[in-house]
Amino acid sequence: MWECVGSVSSSSPRSHFQSPTKIITKPRSCLLTSLFVVALMVALVLGLYGLGPLGLAQELSWSIGSEVVAEGEVSGPEDLAYDKRRRVIYTGCEDGWIKQVTVADSVADTVVNNWVNTGGRPLGLALEKSGELMVADAVKGLLRVTKKKKVEVLANEVDGLKFNLTDGVDVAENGIIYFTDATYKYSLEDYFDDIIEGVPHGRFMNYNPKTKKVTVLARNLYFPNGVVVSQDQNFVIYCETIMKRCRKYYIEGPKKGRIGEFCRNLPGMPDNIHYVGQGQYYIAMATSLTPQRRLLLKYPFMWRVLRMVTKYVGRTHAEENGGVLVVNLEGKPTARYYDSELSLISSGIKIGNYIYCGSLMYPFIVRLDVKQYPSLPLT
Ligand SMILES: *[C@@H]1O[C@H](CO)[C@@H](O)[C@H](O)[C@H]1NC(C)=O
Repeated sequence: MWECVGSVSSSSPRSHFQSPTKIITKPRSCLLTSLFVVALMVALVLGLYGLGPLGLAQELSWSIGSEVVAEGEVSGPEDLAYDKRRRVIYTGCEDGWIKQVTVADSVADTVVNNWVNTGGRPLGLALEKSGELMVADAVKGLLRVTKKKKVEVLANEVDGLKFNLTDGVDVAENGIIYFTDATYKYSLEDYFDDIIEGVPHGRFMNYNPKTKKVTVLARNLYFPNGVVVSQDQNFVIYCETIMKRCRKYYIEGPKKGRIGEFCRNLPGMPDNIHYVGQGQYYIAMATSLTPQRRLLLKYPFMWRVLRMVTKYVGRTHAEENGGVLVVNLEGKPTARYYDSELSLISSGIKIGNYIYCGSLMYPFIVRLDVKQYPSLPLT
């Protein structure tokens, strides 16, 4: 705490804070000093906020071109999975519903349908060729929803350790399911605490539907999140949110069973990752590494301050600049779409000319026509 030590006499119990040379200050100037300190802190915070994104050069914000889809009909649509044949997006919401959102040229023609309620919190989604949906449910574990809308729990623990935040999932062409448990120690509600603690509690695993067995492929991961099987089926990419990186786990070839870098030093916290065709992966960025975010990572107690501020004052800038980073097959960034007004963007997919984005907290999906509003190439 900030204290005025100058005004107390030497007999005061706080006198040990004083320097040998006694500073005698009148209460009034002490108040002024306090005000000055507060003003200095406010200026510091505002200054930091004013600095804006510390991103890659030549980005294009999409504030101008984006549209809001299914507003008020989806709450926290975290991940998006697109069924081409039916032209619907599946998305998992806060209230446990997996919803179907029709894709229409005009957002006004969008229809939202409650499909299945998992009774938990569906996060990562992956559609299998057969039309079944694999779900990483933060509360229930790894689920499969059949075409007849039956919800089956495939796994919720391994090696005697329960999952606590099952997060990302994808299915390989051979039917093997790859998924992550971001942390076994904290549930979704307390995920900030896992970040503060900074200890790796995450696991990357697979599930073999033939043997019904879960195998841990990598443990002690820092909040492993989104998962995608590479386009050539040679490796599986998993994003480690806190480390700002994505790694690959080889499932074929001479490096089978080994782990390598896919991309690192990302300009934000990676969430879900999807292959969107044409040699491109979309990595959703929960937020970019703004200066205040760096401060928060360095001084964890500020998270609590921030949470209180958010609660009583409203949203702060620390969570903004959410969006999508486009990387090529080698993991090299080629474009970036972000918006200074968006926070906690958790997924991005491509449908036609549009990027569709899910988020952990908004009551809508965002879309952007990238033909009309292209990103400048990153250098
Ligand atoms: C899951 O996380 C919560 C805290 O968020 C904790 O109390 C609980 O014990 C955890 N569950 C397991 C199985 O460790």
